[in-house]
Amino acid sequence: MDLTDRPRRLRTDGVRPLVAETDLSASDLVAPVFVDATTDERVPIETMPGHERVPVERAADRVEEITETGVETVILFGVPESKDPTGSRAYADDGVVQRAIRRIDAETDATVIGDVCLCEYTDHGHCGVIEETAEADPTLTVKNDETLDLLARTAVSQADAGADVVAPSAMTDGQVGAIREALDEAGHEDVAIVSYAAKYESAFYGPFRDAADGAPAFGDRRHYQMDPANRREALREARLDAEQGADVLMVKPGLPYLDIVGDLRREFDRPIAAYNVSGEYAMLHAAAEKGWLDLEATAYESLLSLKRAGADVIITYFAEDLAERL
Ligand code: PBG
Repeated sequence: MDLTDRPRRLRTDGVRPLVAETDLSASDLVAPVFVDATTDERVPIETMPGHERVPVERAADRVEEITETGVETVILFGVPESKDPTGSRAYADDGVVQRAIRRIDAETDATVIGDVCLCEYTDHGHCGVIEETAEADPTLTVKNDETLDLLARTAVSQADAGADVVAPSAMTDGQVGAIREALDEAGHEDVAIVSYAAKYESAFYGPFRDAADGAPAFGDRRHYQMDPANRREALREARLDAEQGADVLMVKPGLPYLDIVGDLRREFDRPIAAYNVSGEYAMLHAAAEKGWLDLEATAYESLLSLKRAGADVIITYFAEDLAERL
């Protein structure tokens, strides 16, 4: 055969690594940690093998285990001791996440991201303050503008406790601007914002909602999270967040939304993050348990694909397990 172009020449064991376009390292990964005020033991999360809800007193130990693998950044989610209509434990100075951040800050070198949302803290499980009529008519449940102040207070209280980064995930219009302004007013100009810019209303969050006890008591999140049918709208969301001061733009979920990661990569000059969510993790674990997939290989390929699509940062439940191989 007279072939001048033979791509296979570059696939030998010797040359392949030299021409690899993408690689993954532990410093790209962020590990989620669940802190639970209702327990004094570490409680395994059934739908997410290898993950636990940990009491505040054990949060630093848990983070230490993670940093020992080479992963230096964690994102914290809280399960509060009590819930109410306005999610007041989300922005309490002695809230579960605030207490955990203080300990992690004092006892470890980890970089700490606080997830800023109200759904784990409200008794109705929605991501903000809701209309009185919400239960009867769940189509427009969350009152957007009334929620902004509570999200801003949550972010400031996390920064006061020592968070390096805050990550607003409530999909409230204007949340990034409100948080940036409040952080600056409180003297936290150096606290960065990773915004969940394109957060879709996804069925892949199922295991997380069990883990963090944050499923809506009625209705769904369709009127605030994005419609999975929409691609252009992600650019609009990302542009709004960038204009309001988001330092990093996130896409969530990850693998089913690689096109969105790619779009944002091409359109924006700031770092892009992807959230490889609980359902993506649970799915591979369930298949591996049946012997149908190789867990480590599929997990690695998933994260590599997110990087190839354009993610600089990946939040993933596989962080600890994969870091040791990277
Ligand atoms: C809070 C929040 C959720 C996730 C991250 N932050 C749940 C939701 O929006 O319902 C999901 C993460 C995952 O599934 O791993 N709003």
